Amino acid sequence: MKNQIRGMRIIVTDTYKDMSKKAATIVASQVNLKPNSILGLATGGTPVGMYKELVEMYNNDEVDFSEVKTFNLDEYYPIERTNDQSYFYYMNDNLFKHVNVLEENINIPNGKAEDIEKESYEYDKNIYNSGGIDLQVLGIGTNGHIGFNEPDIAFESGTHKVKLDSETIEANARFFESIDDVPTEAISMGMKTIMQSKKIVLLANGEGKAKIIEKMLFGEISPNVPASILQLHPHVIVILDREAAKYIEEKIN
Ligand code: GLP
Repeated sequence: MKNQIRGMRIIVTDTYKDMSKKAATIVASQVNLKPNSILGLATGGTPVGMYKELVEMYNNDEVDFSEVKTFNLDEYYPIERTNDQSYFYYMNDNLFKHVNVLEENINIPNGKAEDIEKESYEYDKNIYNSGGIDLQVLGIGTNGHIGFNEPDIAFESGTHKVKLDSETIEANARFFESIDDVPTEAISMGMKTIMQSKKIVLLANGEGKAKIIEKMLFGEISPNVPASILQLHPHVIVILDREAAKYIEEKIN
């Protein structure tokens, strides 16, 4: 099959909107096929359009989230849920307040947890006891991070506290008033947690992601580029806009 590298299927779309629509359709199909799906959700600029499309699909009665359970990838640490830069706030703003996911079915790492080890252990246990993530949505950092698993992360890690790379802090400063306001730590699902998801959909748009997308798909599998481990996952769909696919389009056609 074309556009297929091992377990990864690559879809290149013309625009950010097309990428977002494709991703929303995949998430909605997952929920329609299995109404009590366990969804792994991502934040960042990339999936905003996908959430918009999902809200629209919900409003058109094309998808129902009433039995869905969600687990978010990560959260800054420390951060209050009421802080408009928290991922808790983001998820509410972009998705949860617009659709019918039940509050008790929403899981986001607690950015104020006193005992992070306990929080992390329980987060993983909760995912496991729910039957595991059916579909995990991912973005990718310019340094190849997924969730907040920065380069040189141990591939065998579960949910844990991480120190953010200076590249990530710089990239995320655009969402804050000043770079000094960007938290330097976070709680993130680990690589093991992510790799145990049954299916993964990774989104990337814009030229800024083109180089890392090439490395992720065609580079060596290495903790240096955390996303490269996805080459070993049996069921990944990578959805890109043309700009993010700049260096790979020739190789996959
Ligand atoms: C963030 C998040 C990731 C996200 C990535 C890319 O810091 N922790 O989950 O995928 O960086 O972000 P963006 O989509 O804004 O480029």
